[in-house]
Amino acid sequence: MKGILLAGGSGSRLWPLTQVVSKNLLPVYDKPMVYYPLSTLMLAGIREILVITRPEEQALFRRVLGDGGQFGLRLSYAAQAEPRGLADAFLIGAAFVAGGPAALILGDNIFYGDGLITLLAATRERIESAPDAGASIFSYTVRDPGRYGIVELDAAGHPVGIEEKPARPKSRNAVVGLYFYDGRVTDYARAVRPSARGEIEITDINRAYLEAGALSVTRFGRGYAWFDAGTPESLIQAGAFLQAVEERQGLKVGCLEEIAWRQGFITTAQFDAARARLPDSAYARYLAEIRDNF
Ligand code: DAU
Repeated sequence: MKGILLAGGSGSRLWPLTQVVSKNLLPVYDKPMVYYPLSTLMLAGIREILVITRPEEQALFRRVLGDGGQFGLRLSYAAQAEPRGLADAFLIGAAFVAGGPAALILGDNIFYGDGLITLLAATRERIESAPDAGASIFSYTVRDPGRYGIVELDAAGHPVGIEEKPARPKSRNAVVGLYFYDGRVTDYARAVRPSARGEIEITDINRAYLEAGALSVTRFGRGYAWFDAGTPESLIQAGAFLQAVEERQGLKVGCLEEIAWRQGFITTAQFDAARARLPDSAYARYLAEIRDNF
């Protein structure tokens, strides 16, 4: 399965932090924000990834992530000139996806929780298993549902309705920014018309799957952490959370070299070569430590 990492957008809610740098390259504790969603795709077992950025920021992302070879990935880049909406990822990425299944992750979404790798890999395998396998999305309980895509579930946990930023939310189940789709997604994306806020909404793609009886929703329980780090408050909350977890365990979240190595995307020799290119830093020392001790 291919993956798309959508890291464009205006970053207006983080102004003036985003005057000269993309929101998705801002620090979240000890790494650039984009490391975390990229690591989530890697944990799902996805290695061929299109990174969509604003045109003027593409060179910065290339400097940070390169062609992905150091992580055992194949990264390619595309530009989004205007933030037309999340569904645009599948119009910009149509040739890349080439009618196959694909996962989309938003560049400001950070996931953490036990069992995440198993869940992601199982989801990918299910969606890859048949051309009409459908769509798989995830929900998470939030305090402020009016800010998100909201899905309504019946008693059996099946979705019965989905709305974008409803004025009167029917549930507190926010749809998180990670989506797995079968090969129909490009056609559904082409059919989406702009919403009242002028965007082509991912929620309309999800509704199309729902109406086709092909949308499944998995709830992330309260043992998971999910942040969309797009506001000053959530940016510092995500950083504080990750600092606490990393400090306590002595293990890093979203460390791309480590994940590539543990996932078997790179050999130990490649891991060592990638380490050797890093400047002397706590990050490089961490990689040396796990190499020999875990
Ligand atoms: O975070 C989850 C939520 O993401 C979902 O619950 C909503 O259903 C979904 O619409 C989206 O809501 P947001 O209002 O948070 O989306 P936002 O416009 O902030 O965009 C999310 C990220 O995607 C952000 O990092 C910027 C980037 N983006 C956004 C748009 C509209 C792009 O790269 N291109 C775009 O055209």
